Amino acid sequence: MLEEKLKHIIRDVYDFPKPGIVFKDITSLLQNAQLCEEMVDAFVEQVKDCKLDAVAGIESRGFLFGMMLANRLKIPFVPIRKQGKLPFHTISESYALEYGQATIEMHEDAFPKGSRILIHDDLLATGGTVVAASKLIEKLGGEIAGYCFVISLDFLNSQGRLTRFSPHVFSLAHYK
Ligand code: PRP
Ligand code: ADE
Repeated sequence: MLEEKLKHIIRDVYDFPKPGIVFKDITSLLQNAQLCEEMVDAFVEQVKDCKLDAVAGIESRGFLFGMMLANRLKIPFVPIRKQGKLPFHTISESYALEYGQATIEMHEDAFPKGSRILIHDDLLATGGTVVAASKLIEKLGGEIAGYCFVISLDFLNSQGRLTRFSPHVFSLAHYK
């Protein structure tokens, strides 16, 4: 089963980037092209009824599979980046992370008003990052069609923070 295969290959790194954090390292997963392909297949299946216009992925790990998924679905990819990286006019949102504070930005012409956007990231922890991304998308008049993650840290109970934007929250590997 895909979830077991993913959990077997994702590596726990203790005390990174700060003491007390168990960091889920997906670089081991990137070495397995077949498994990456299976993951994209699984995402495609999960989102097949979401009627998507674009996939938004969050820098940096959200770019890895977000672009693969958008490409497979033959729809545009919207990069949401850390502060100061996007060259054109941007809108921004600040948020708290499991291990710090950050600001993300998106181009103000990222998609047409009314677009249905799937938000993708590698991992859902506190949900701060994707809540900020959701606010950016709503500011531009986009509709959150759903969320998909490789990993969900279910023990942090953050899924409920997302359901006010969309009831469609998918993850491939759950850590209870
Ligand atoms: C990590 C991860 C998610 C976010 C999840 O990104 O890739 O984007 O944290 O945490 P949250 O649910 O508590 O917001 P990070 O900011 O470490 O950046 P990176 O992808 O560039 O490593
Ligand atoms: N982002 C937030 N928390 C994380 C964790 N425990 N492992 C990897 N990325 C993260």
